[in-house]
Amino acid sequence: MVSGDRQPMVQFKGILKRFGKVTAVEKMDFDIEEGSLVTLLGPSGCGKTTLLRMVAGLEEPTEGDIFIKGKRVNDIPIHKRNLGMIFQNYALFPHKTIFDNVAFGLKYRNVSKAQIETKVTRALEMVRLPGVEKRMPSQLSGGQQQRIAMARAIVIEPDVLLMDEPLSALDENLREAMRREVDNLQQMLGVTTIFVTHDQREALSMSDKILVMKDGRKQQEGNPESVYNEPANHFVADFLGHSNFIAGEVVGVDDNHVNVRIETGDILLAENKGGFSRGDRVEMIVRAQRFDAFPKAEFQPTAGLNHFQGHIKDRSYMGGEVSYFIELGVDREIHIISMMRTRLYDIGEAVSIQVAPHHCHLIPLE
Ligand SMILES: Nc1ncnc2c1ncn2[C@@H]1O[C@H](COP(=O)(O)OP(=O)(O)O)[C@@H](O)[C@H]1O
Ligand SMILES: [Mg+2]
Repeated sequence: MVSGDRQPMVQFKGILKRFGKVTAVEKMDFDIEEGSLVTLLGPSGCGKTTLLRMVAGLEEPTEGDIFIKGKRVNDIPIHKRNLGMIFQNYALFPHKTIFDNVAFGLKYRNVSKAQIETKVTRALEMVRLPGVEKRMPSQLSGGQQQRIAMARAIVIEPDVLLMDEPLSALDENLREAMRREVDNLQQMLGVTTIFVTHDQREALSMSDKILVMKDGRKQQEGNPESVYNEPANHFVADFLGHSNFIAGEVVGVDDNHVNVRIETGDILLAENKGGFSRGDRVEMIVRAQRFDAFPKAEFQPTAGLNHFQGHIKDRSYMGGEVSYFIELGVDREIHIISMMRTRLYDIGEAVSIQVAPHHCHLIPLE
């Protein structure tokens, strides 16, 4: 350990997991800082659950090592790892009272009866359901049962809290409320948390760090802003948010900008973050929300911004925002999500589109 650096709470070093011929996780290196909330984000089947189950001790890595608090845990059985777990079917024991559900993990831990009572009471207060000890799970709503599952997981004061898509069975409104609930509880307790989800909004709204996965491989890791604003590749840009991908060629580079000729012949500027030179084939990634559209006749370009022309091909009104699909003329359309301004633009209407160079992110054409 480098002095001054805090030791990560959880470390994956060269983790690989095979099930027969299927490689579920491929050479994963990843650190999780103490007290942080990290999400494993990716489509179904990308290896998120497998990675989490290896931390839990429910699966053994085929290759590589897992460290918790600096200690290699590959051979440590599940009950000797001090972990709290909440899985998708968070199933409480239906025939046990809430008290017995929450106390479950403590009974195997040599905790006195009086201490168990104190800890259960505190855990129920933490999830804002004090006084429900005597009730049965069926007497609580889905959201309340979810909170009991959280109380059960935190009552043992785990080193790491593991959550596998815990909210995906809930309807959208409850999900949103529970997302905040998990986030607040995690911050209040300061417990290191690994949260698995395939929902980008969940990941963006809660995480200190996101690990984006595809086919068992790490695609990118970083905080929500960096993963969203500086996607490492096409997959990440596509998986998080509404992205436009505009192919082009680098035709010039100076200190501040990379000049890219796109398919329409227009030359757009992207902020120069290094790594590209003249002749490179690139993909310019622009989030749908970053463009501005104006009626062509009234358009006055702003110095330093990119602008080009198009026609409204399709639109979808969403209340505060409008989604426009804009034809650029050369069998190429872009998707813009625009705040509703004075009026809706009509289908076929000519518009001018503007976007700042720092919202144009370049990746090599794959
Ligand atoms: N016990 C198992 N036996 C065989 N294949 C498995 C097993 N568990 C997971 N897999 C496979 O490993 C891959 C990753 O699965 P999983 O970790 O469940 O993905 P995710 O949680 O991201 O949906 C998938 O191809 C899945 O079919
Ligand atoms: Mg899974």
